[in-house]
Amino acid sequence: MSKAKIKVALAGVGNCASALIQGVEYYRHVQHEEEAVGLSHLYLGGYHPRDIEFVCAFDVASGKVGADLSEAIFTHPNNTIKIADVPKIGVKVLRGPLMDGVSGPLSDVITVDESEEADVASALKESGAEILLNLLPSGASEASKRYAEESLKAGCAFVNVTPTILASDPEWAGRFKEKGLPLVGDDLTDQVGATIIHKALLETLSRRGVRVSETYQLDVGGGTESLNTLERARDLKRAIKTSSVSSVLPYPAEIVAGSTDYVDFLGNRRDSYFWLRGLYFGGVPMRLDIKLSTVDGPNAGSVLLDVVRAVKIALNRGEAGHVLAISAYAFKRPAEILPPDEAEKLFETFVRSG
Ligand SMILES: NC(=O)c1ccc[n+]([C@@H]2O[C@H](COP(=O)([O-])OP(=O)(O)OC[C@H]3O[C@@H](n4cnc5c(N)ncnc54)[C@H](O)[C@@H]3O)[C@@H](O)[C@H]2O)c1
Repeated sequence: MSKAKIKVALAGVGNCASALIQGVEYYRHVQHEEEAVGLSHLYLGGYHPRDIEFVCAFDVASGKVGADLSEAIFTHPNNTIKIADVPKIGVKVLRGPLMDGVSGPLSDVITVDESEEADVASALKESGAEILLNLLPSGASEASKRYAEESLKAGCAFVNVTPTILASDPEWAGRFKEKGLPLVGDDLTDQVGATIIHKALLETLSRRGVRVSETYQLDVGGGTESLNTLERARDLKRAIKTSSVSSVLPYPAEIVAGSTDYVDFLGNRRDSYFWLRGLYFGGVPMRLDIKLSTVDGPNAGSVLLDVVRAVKIALNRGEAGHVLAISAYAFKRPAEILPPDEAEKLFETFVRSG
């Protein structure tokens, strides 16, 4: 039997939104888990990706505002890979409040649409949205907070995909709890992102007795988000990634994890470099040097599909405030960082229970 639809609104129609919307189409007709290549769960708590319906969207970029969501996701400067044709959705992208959404290097690639700002809370209510995904550029912290306020006003659960500190802030968590709404975040963990790979590497080596003394993980990318991160969120991103990576080692080590630079011809691709040095049996030195190549947008897809469906489950159960079981599994900076296997178990138990 088909489940009720999950009504989702988007703040920011960039590469991440594009991958998510295309992903729903890509997996729409897949019936069996074993055929769902690239997904952690085809069904989650009984929900299939096709149960997700996009009912409302906000952006500020000229060309995206006023366009059908199915067209806006392929509009400049979005440059992520195309994995599916998306039929007309019937949702026009509304002009959101700009605030600090477009500044620094982003101003060179985004022309701000001049039309009147929409009333976000009213639009959310009218659309019947249950969950608002915050997909704004890193560093757009005032605008992110504004969408969180509007989400509270409209009675929507809030998913903070960005590194702005929101879900892990007890004050915001308290406000969502008071309103009886779930809140998850901050800063999504990619499916095969540098952070999760770096953590797995360090965890395996330390479990096998290696004493890692120094390690770095640095990357270059060509999406708008890489350009934006250069000026606006490099320090914040580095702090979040480094504390997430450090959490898996039971001893102190020199760790650097962060974004390095923007290389426009890479498009939405990202190359991540891992390097480490340590000592194994008898104090014998070892080194490891690896490169990972991925595309940013799709790297968020599988995790986002899990998050949206898990938040719907939280809504169904009347869970309110910060939901650690979802945040610890799917985000780099939850209120409490758990070891990856523990976070995964907590998530699976959450989905199955109740
Ligand atoms: N794999 C991933 O893509 C991934 C992983 C972890 C975190 N994130 C986070 O997700 C967020 C989105 O990433 P992206 O690659 O889609 O970025 P993007 O730059 O491609 O898209 C951001 C969109 O937000 C729009 N925008 C800017 N200001 C706005 C405002 N005030 N109101 C409404 N829209 C506004 C822009 O026009 C653009 O369409 C970033 O904060 C990023 O750090 C992404």
